[in-house]
Amino acid sequence: MNQILSVTGAFKKYGAVTALRGANLSVNAGEVHAICGDNGAGKSTLIKLIAGVETPDAGTIEVRGTPVSFGDPQDALAAGIATIHQDLGLAPAMAIYQNIYLGSELSVRLAGIRVLQKRAMMRGAREILAKMNSVMTDMTKPVEALSGGQRQAVAIARALRWNAEIIIMDEPTAALGVRETKEVVRLINELRNRGATVLLISHNMADVIAVADRATILKGGRAVTSLSLDGVSADALAKMIMDGADDIEEA
Ligand SMILES: Nc1ncnc2c1ncn2[C@@H]1O[C@H](COP(=O)(O)OP(=O)(O)O)[C@@H](O)[C@H]1O
Ligand SMILES: [Mg+2]
Repeated sequence: MNQILSVTGAFKKYGAVTALRGANLSVNAGEVHAICGDNGAGKSTLIKLIAGVETPDAGTIEVRGTPVSFGDPQDALAAGIATIHQDLGLAPAMAIYQNIYLGSELSVRLAGIRVLQKRAMMRGAREILAKMNSVMTDMTKPVEALSGGQRQAVAIARALRWNAEIIIMDEPTAALGVRETKEVVRLINELRNRGATVLLISHNMADVIAVADRATILKGGRAVTSLSLDGVSADALAKMIMDGADDIEEA
């Protein structure tokens, strides 16, 4: 398989707490890869290193075979990695199209004055959402008027607007009901259909089994195993996270 992202021997300490102690991760291009593990296993810390939010104390991160060193999330974005944090980072009172173009607004200079291209942004926003088969049509609607699943769609559309090839989603269904969760699973499948690589952190084993191709299980700051989820049940995965993974050496 064609590896797009790898982390080798990542260490990260927060004061006296060692969050990662030699964690490894290997992600193939175009797959949905779940990061699993109990609370405190180091999932968020590992993601923060890849997202440029934190820097590792030791270890290597490679994107498409090239070692990278991210000083901030903009560096990660420039390498094609966008992170959708649990809070989504949207501006609730602003319109859908404004959120999708937040920080990358389209504008022209007229007589020295910067004029926003509102129509072009609304059209662009509609096009990106249509690619995700999202039903939203009124791009002027404020994000606060949207359902949880629709908000995820806006956050994903923004990542696509940045041309991200690797999209990290931290607990995207944690606050959602059954119907909204289904919508997010559908969106993740759309991303894969479009050739994107998705890193999914989720506590919900049913979601992971529904959408992920492979999983890496973290325990105590180490990756204890990476496995294909073909034919693996949610119960079996949960059991591996809780106990079985204890004696499996790093894959
Ligand atoms: N900013 C921080 N300061 C101190 N300890 C932290 C910090 N972030 C994480 N930790 C600790 O590092 C360990 C791993 O945390 P985390 O990566 O958030 O795990 P997970 O996301 O799997 O629950 C935990 O023991 C946690 O308490
Ligand atoms: Mg976490």
